[in-house]
Amino acid sequence: MNDTLPLDNPLRSGLRLSRTPEPCTMVIFGATGDLTSRKLVPALYNLARERRLPGGFSVVGFARREWDDEHFRTVLRDGINANSRSGPVESDLWASFAEGSGFHRASFDDPAGYASLKERLAAIDEQRGTGGNRVFYLATPPEAYPTIIQQLGAAGLGRSPNGGWTRIIVEKPFGRDLESARALNQTLLAVFDEPQVYRIDHYLGKETVQNLLVFRFANGIFEPLWDRRSVDHVQITVAESIGVEDRGGYYDSSGALRDMIQNHLTQLLCLVAMEPPIAYDADAVRDEKVKVLRAIRPLTPDEVARQTVRGQYGPGNVSGRPLRGYREERGVAPGSQTETFVALKLFIESWRWAGVPFYLRSGKALPRRVSEIAIQFKTVPTMLFADTPMNDIEPNVLAIKIQPDEGITLKFGSKVPGHQQIRPVTMDFRYGTSFGVASPEAYERLLLDCMLGDSTLFTRRDEVEASWALITPIHQGWAAGPPCPFPNYEAGLWGPAEADAFIARDGRAWRRLSGTHL
Ligand code: BG6
Repeated sequence: MNDTLPLDNPLRSGLRLSRTPEPCTMVIFGATGDLTSRKLVPALYNLARERRLPGGFSVVGFARREWDDEHFRTVLRDGINANSRSGPVESDLWASFAEGSGFHRASFDDPAGYASLKERLAAIDEQRGTGGNRVFYLATPPEAYPTIIQQLGAAGLGRSPNGGWTRIIVEKPFGRDLESARALNQTLLAVFDEPQVYRIDHYLGKETVQNLLVFRFANGIFEPLWDRRSVDHVQITVAESIGVEDRGGYYDSSGALRDMIQNHLTQLLCLVAMEPPIAYDADAVRDEKVKVLRAIRPLTPDEVARQTVRGQYGPGNVSGRPLRGYREERGVAPGSQTETFVALKLFIESWRWAGVPFYLRSGKALPRRVSEIAIQFKTVPTMLFADTPMNDIEPNVLAIKIQPDEGITLKFGSKVPGHQQIRPVTMDFRYGTSFGVASPEAYERLLLDCMLGDSTLFTRRDEVEASWALITPIHQGWAAGPPCPFPNYEAGLWGPAEADAFIARDGRAWRRLSGTHL
């Protein structure tokens, strides 16, 4: 039966069930950067700790700096000590991890560096039994992606020797508009086939995000309510309390729309709105997500003015901690027009969702770090209690809390004992209480899935282009209009006042996400 599955499908060899990949080498381009020591190596280490990595697994860091193997290993160990969810490194485990790690010093544009990489990988295959299986990880600034991809192709590294497999993981940002995303796809697909390409969006690796599909499609009671007949609107919030910290240079040429909405929030929207896929596999799931994106009509310039709000934070206080204004951050232009907050309203023109607004908002320097999806249901059709003291009825809300305090809460009205009064109460599910184990980091799941050849939680070519097709007209609409009076919100507030006015015009309000909330 497995022979009917594509060659790259992990179910062929039952790998998805055992979830231990074949031996392989991961080559990290840009290995001296922050992502490697903050996220990638701690994730690999924790996979090793949980015996999820194959024997012989090896890491090669590829970068320009004058480091050697020893220095690279020291940096990795420090990175694990500082960032691993399982605490400081355990020496036995570290010894075997370090044995398989090395540094390859080369420039991204130097063909000789790729020729020697090829030899090095062949030697690793020989010594550690990695069978020609490779993952290339692009963790460099995005300007270097095309060069690296072309050099890999020119060196014949796009395919594996010895019947092994080669895959490439591409970090965000994947382009900065529709045109550049298309160009990057073309560059990639000139060297690799689509099933070899893994475009990462770390939100898809979060347990709470993966649970969206389980919640919707492994439970019968919610789906009949999941449409325009019952849902009034949906709010998706990804709020961060930090400013841009030391990423001002990158962020100032990006902004909240590119940095968060185009990828993370759009993915959340797709998972909430998609139809049930016909199978739980990469193509079936992604087909449904693409349909959602295509059913959202791109905003016209007029709609951009009416359906989006931009903000940029000025100096303020977040939880009693002073934060300087965005324009004072290192790497940010003094008169920057980059947005650090966006709110927008989208409509999905499908039978299921026609007329139901999806409100998305994301920003930095907001009062709390909190991400959630709230499905607000319609109010009851007749006000049975209208002429009684119990006339204060709030709509039902299903809140899916992505982070922190991961869980799901359903709000409903209840009679206050002994009083003629209705008050909202909640039914709560919390991961911590129900499962009592720490969730793996998103990167653990995603790196493992890539090694297993499962791209369900990665974005496909048409998906990334469809999401840019929605975002690019918004940038164009903003660019065509007058500049914004930035800064327009104080750090520590929930964005500009205009964001409240914008949703209030529809007779609705943003959910209050400070402290305890329903
Ligand atoms: C990244 C953005 O993709 O996601 C950052 O570039 C942002 O600006 C981060 O801070 C948020 O991720 P998380 O997992 O902390 O919500």
